[in-house]
Amino acid sequence: MLAAIAAGVAVWLAIRAARSGADPRRLRWPLAVTAVVVAARIVVTALLSAGGWVLVDDRVTIGLPAAVVPLTVAAVAAVRGRAVTISGQVAAAGVLISAWLAWVPRDPSGAPAVAAVVAVALTLTAAAAALRRRGHGTGKRSPAVVGALLIVAAVGLLFLPGRPVDSADWGGGPRTTRVPYAADIAQLTGPRGRSADVRFTLTAARGTVRLASGRVVPALTFNGTSPGPTLRVRTGQVVEVVLVNTDVAEGVTIHWHGVDVPNAEDGVPGLTQDAVPPGGQHVYRFVPNRSGTFWYHSHRDSRDTVARGLFGALLVDAPEHDDGEFTLFTHAWPLGKDTVSALNDADAPTRRAVPDGRALRLRLINSSQDPQRIQVTGVQFQVAAIDGNAVHEPGVLPSGTVLLLAAGGRYDVALVMPATTVTVSLHSNEQAATAALVLSPTGLGEPAGDGHGPAFDPAAYGSPDATPPPAAADRRFDLRLDNGFKVSGAGLTFANTVNGRLAPAIPTLMVAVGDTVRMRVTNRGIIDHPMHLHGHRVRVLARNGRPVTGSPWWTDTLNVAPGEWYDITFRADNPGVWMDHCHNFKHAAEGMTWHLAYIGVTAPHDHSGEAAE
Ligand code: C2O
Ligand code: CU
Repeated sequence: MLAAIAAGVAVWLAIRAARSGADPRRLRWPLAVTAVVVAARIVVTALLSAGGWVLVDDRVTIGLPAAVVPLTVAAVAAVRGRAVTISGQVAAAGVLISAWLAWVPRDPSGAPAVAAVVAVALTLTAAAAALRRRGHGTGKRSPAVVGALLIVAAVGLLFLPGRPVDSADWGGGPRTTRVPYAADIAQLTGPRGRSADVRFTLTAARGTVRLASGRVVPALTFNGTSPGPTLRVRTGQVVEVVLVNTDVAEGVTIHWHGVDVPNAEDGVPGLTQDAVPPGGQHVYRFVPNRSGTFWYHSHRDSRDTVARGLFGALLVDAPEHDDGEFTLFTHAWPLGKDTVSALNDADAPTRRAVPDGRALRLRLINSSQDPQRIQVTGVQFQVAAIDGNAVHEPGVLPSGTVLLLAAGGRYDVALVMPATTVTVSLHSNEQAATAALVLSPTGLGEPAGDGHGPAFDPAAYGSPDATPPPAAADRRFDLRLDNGFKVSGAGLTFANTVNGRLAPAIPTLMVAVGDTVRMRVTNRGIIDHPMHLHGHRVRVLARNGRPVTGSPWWTDTLNVAPGEWYDITFRADNPGVWMDHCHNFKHAAEGMTWHLAYIGVTAPHDHSGEAAE
């Protein structure tokens, strides 16, 4: 921005000089300042590149040259004592364009077109400046010509998001299907013919949640509570859940987060079903195929309704009683203008008596919109599972280890209760830990944990098992998450984009049944993005180019932090049209939402971005 301001001053001086015949050498100062700022940008870009070429590629190939090349020409002219009237204006225009490119993310597939437009814009600027110099003293039309040309160039840059692409342009591969497949989403249901092995009714309604501190949150509940009832089921059972909506005006659906249910049972309003209105109901049926910690939540207006309480735990093959278990949601309760961080409804320390020597499992589930840091103090422990997937030979982590839990993600923590106090504390970014679970044989004790401790790293935890990841892929997708300004209807808004786009302009990723799919997700912005693909679990191959060294890392919700890039793979074995989105529901609602679709599957419902959000 500093460079753009300095360049703007240079342009203004140049135009004044052209109009009034003032001394064009005054251009040199703002150009010198611009050069210093641009040099600083080069240093920053070089530092960023240490994180990986994918973080800087277009900045190095287009963004910086647009500023650096004309600035260098002007600098050489200045040093040689020549006039910088023309070269100075071109340099200033280059810096402005470069700032624009840095602030407005775009589709990498459009890079050649952007480079061409930049070259044309700079050439036009040079031509206009030359015209103006010739016209000086005789004609007045040149400034108008210059202005018109610059506007043409700016408009060209504005409306050049790259061609409308389909996923093939994102490296998706051929639009052919290895297995001819044809189905409508409505046909892709769970077992309807057999009788259910286990049945639940979840009734959504307005209500309140009383937090441990005594504060009362106006909330939305399932069966009168939030978190809603914990559903315990077994693999292979036909599970039936009847969703009833009493009075939730937004409408309700249930998404079985992390369970790879058939497409029609996925609970995405506007895509796999219509949202259930007040007074309505909907029946879900599915057969869980993997043990572990999962959760359910409404998918209608989720930014608001999940925060207010429409969620609960779904445990597959967990013990019937939770003597040795604690299921803890890290949640941010909306209270007036604030949010209150809590473990379930506990925004203050809570204490429980646990006998010395008992094996415990803590099921940690992040139902908030941000990554949460959870610290376990007072005992060594293991992370037994990530997103419901057992870790192979999990190692022992020291007391005080901090677990970063993606929004929507889960960790199962295993420990053996010592004779002393164990603290599970939640450290949110904005506030000191006030939410904590204190376990001790006596049920007394003060919370420990200051949020400082070694960080748990799932990429190097446990040991490899006998299943190496697939070496080849049938399709590859490259997703770049940026932030910057986005041109939308009214003007410029700050946005989190996927390849420079927002829903519904993000192309659907097309796959065929049986494909091995590889995806690279790069976060080039400054905010965490927890990536959640419905209907599939994915295996993480590498982070920032470095392969995963420990246990196979299976996940359904992967936090991609600023500056990180992940290579992931999954098998396309669950036909349908699936949402793929950021589990920061605010980002999702603002457009960080797209779909993965199987060739041959048709959607009866409209799935424009807004409806599916
Ligand atoms: Cu848990 Cu589409 O979300
Ligand atoms: Cu996000």
